[in-house]
Amino acid sequence: MHSLLIPLLRILSDGKFHPGTHLAAQLSVSRATVCNVLKQAEPLGIHLHKVQGHGYQLPIAPNWLDAGQIQADLHGEARQIEMIVLNETRSTNTDLLNRHVTASPLVCLAAEYQTSGRGRRGKQWEATLGGSLTFSVRWISPLGIAALSGLSLAVGVAVRRALQRCGVEDARLKWPNDILWQDKKLAGILIEVQGESMGPAIVVIGIGINVQLPDDVRANIDQPVTDLHEITGHSIDRNHLLAEILNALHDILLEFAVNGLSRLRHEWSEWHAHNNQWLNITLADGKTINGIARGIQASGALLIELPDGQQLALHSGEVQRARRTDSVEVA
Ligand code: BTN
Repeated sequence: MHSLLIPLLRILSDGKFHPGTHLAAQLSVSRATVCNVLKQAEPLGIHLHKVQGHGYQLPIAPNWLDAGQIQADLHGEARQIEMIVLNETRSTNTDLLNRHVTASPLVCLAAEYQTSGRGRRGKQWEATLGGSLTFSVRWISPLGIAALSGLSLAVGVAVRRALQRCGVEDARLKWPNDILWQDKKLAGILIEVQGESMGPAIVVIGIGINVQLPDDVRANIDQPVTDLHEITGHSIDRNHLLAEILNALHDILLEFAVNGLSRLRHEWSEWHAHNNQWLNITLADGKTINGIARGIQASGALLIELPDGQQLALHSGEVQRARRTDSVEVA
């Protein structure tokens, strides 16, 4: 994507006609550059009108991210979160891991477009211009890395609370940290940490939410997915949703810094997508086991009841709901 595409689309977002010469003058480029750059809009699902003698018009503008609007919706101490919005970057997680540390304990970096968005387990994170919400929050945590094991579950609780405040009922939590709706993935969380095991840690919490994904993007994703438009039947204000997530995340991080996951366990389990269900679990060594999900520990480990009645605390692994025909033997 050309670096001038989003600046041009932002100018056109007033819905009025803008002659190519005016756009070119505003960005100090040639008219031909404006014309070439705007040709990239259509393949990204953004429809422009071009009328001889009038110029370009954007009839339906994306709901652009706006740092001022996000900050205006923050409450109480969450107002101290430093907010940065970029048009384009590689990955908001990578950016925050490399960005110099300032006095703010919490910095949020949101991007309209990521060229190398990263998901868990080395996967690419699929997102589209205006159709996704992609951002990361850097937390200078008083806790050492060793104490952060349940953090991704706590972040899931914050995202679910915020979704509910924005009218998304019944979003569920998949262990360890996916957000599902009717068993389809709505959002993902990628947490990366730097620091000493006992000392303060730099924690980067990356969150990607499907807002309105075009069919061709859905087709690239190797699991069932959903988006906010499908769930609610209308467009969601991404600035408001991001602010609500930051409000909820601020509260959750304060709670987690003092009590870890212990007081959030109950809420997590209440919204667990797979509680008391048979699961297939793929372990890090590739082995698969079956068992019934029986809640979580304060460390964030998932408790699995094996077919022989023994309980296993699972610290890593990929879970899938078992089909009725799946074997229930421990491999
Ligand atoms: C997952 O695989 O479920 C985690 C997805 C996390 C994606 C988000 S988008 C914002 C942040 N920047 C990244 O590169 N990844 C995370």
